[in-house]
Amino acid sequence: MAELGFDVIGVDVDPEKIDSLSRGELPFHEPGLPELIRKHVDSGRLRFTTDMSEVGAWGDVHFIAVGTPQVKGGTGADLTYVDAATTSLVRSITKSGALIVGKSTVPVGTAARLYDLVQEQKNPGVELSLAWNPEFLREGFAVEDTLRPDRLVVGTRTEADEAKLREVYAEALGRETPWVSTDFETAELVKVAANAFLATKISFINAFAEVTETVGGDITTLADAIGFDDRIGRKFLNAGVGFGGGCLPKDIRALQTRVAELGLDHSMKFLDEIDQINLRRRKKAVARAFELLDQDVVGKKIAVLGITFKPLSDDVRDAPGLDVAARLFNAGADVQVYDPEGNKNAAKRYPRLGYVDSLSEAVKDAELVVLTTEWNEFKALTPADLEDLVAAKRFVDARNVLPAAEWEAAGWTFAQLGRKFRESDVPATH
Ligand code: UDX
Repeated sequence: MAELGFDVIGVDVDPEKIDSLSRGELPFHEPGLPELIRKHVDSGRLRFTTDMSEVGAWGDVHFIAVGTPQVKGGTGADLTYVDAATTSLVRSITKSGALIVGKSTVPVGTAARLYDLVQEQKNPGVELSLAWNPEFLREGFAVEDTLRPDRLVVGTRTEADEAKLREVYAEALGRETPWVSTDFETAELVKVAANAFLATKISFINAFAEVTETVGGDITTLADAIGFDDRIGRKFLNAGVGFGGGCLPKDIRALQTRVAELGLDHSMKFLDEIDQINLRRRKKAVARAFELLDQDVVGKKIAVLGITFKPLSDDVRDAPGLDVAARLFNAGADVQVYDPEGNKNAAKRYPRLGYVDSLSEAVKDAELVVLTTEWNEFKALTPADLEDLVAAKRFVDARNVLPAAEWEAAGWTFAQLGRKFRESDVPATH
């Protein structure tokens, strides 16, 4: 928003985050964002505070961008943070005519409920409204996706609120950028429908991977071939260890939970299958590791390359690679993890795994190498890079990014997901 020309204050209840942001330091990894933060902390257009009353007296537009994680011990979305942020913001707003804009991914019906809450809780004499404007940015591309969005979706109750948001986004809207103006329910559902579709696409190809790894065939060629049909498209058809992160898994679970509450559980039942297919892929990667080690992993040194849920991120929430590493560790293997950005966050969750600072340390004397996140550093690997370091030439490429024929020709026992490995392919049980 500062880059688009606005004066911006960022508010959070966590003083540590606010302190580090005020110094121009980002508390997580996101390419290009630290530079932008520093640029506008220096330009004076961006500052940070924990003081809600300061923004309440100052802002014309207030974005709420707090998380909606999966509830502990359940499958629905935890709305505690959205509710708390909205309530405390509304009570602080003293400037009449302000607009509150929800960006968080929420169960359908939340915006209407919060609209009523805003009207009930606002200060006397203050005019306040609420809009819903879902966020579609991808981690790793946050700056690009925000400054050049592929569409903007706004759910509003009044034309004035829509007009205000158009003004806010005028600079970011290219001539071709679709502007979708709609009601609260559609805006909320667009976000979860988009993520459910993406999750379905990934699990669709991974379901075919289960078939090809049993009957033979090549899953990547299959994806390429159906992807040439532009009604299908090649994107999000990469078979492998499946999807993870802070969005796709919890969003499909929250959607199912919400529609079940509405008495429509049959409508989204297929998402349960999508989730199950996805989780089976992690087990399959572990099963492949067992196969390559002749079912005996105890004490074996295994290098796990990549534990973030995807490259260009340090996010290990619901990360397939970390899950695979933990399963191998729990089965008795000596696991050495290397990820260019994710080691620190992973160590907070699984402190007992071995973490090293370089690829060569991870693979040194390894009896098996498992690639679980396709960082460029790993995609560029050749057999010659590793052969003098490892104890045995065994490799599981759980993202299907390396040329199998080349590795096999160099004498490696090389397995991928979605490719038949041995005649006696075993089911995923570990
Ligand atoms: C997703 C949506 O893409 C974004 O629009 C939304 O705002 C938030 O959720 P993100 O979580 O950053 O973004 O990651 P995304 O790039 O969608 O990848 C999700 C997961 O799917 C990753 O674990 C990735 O490795 C996996 N994936 C992606 C595959 O397994 N195969 C693919 O073909 C594509």
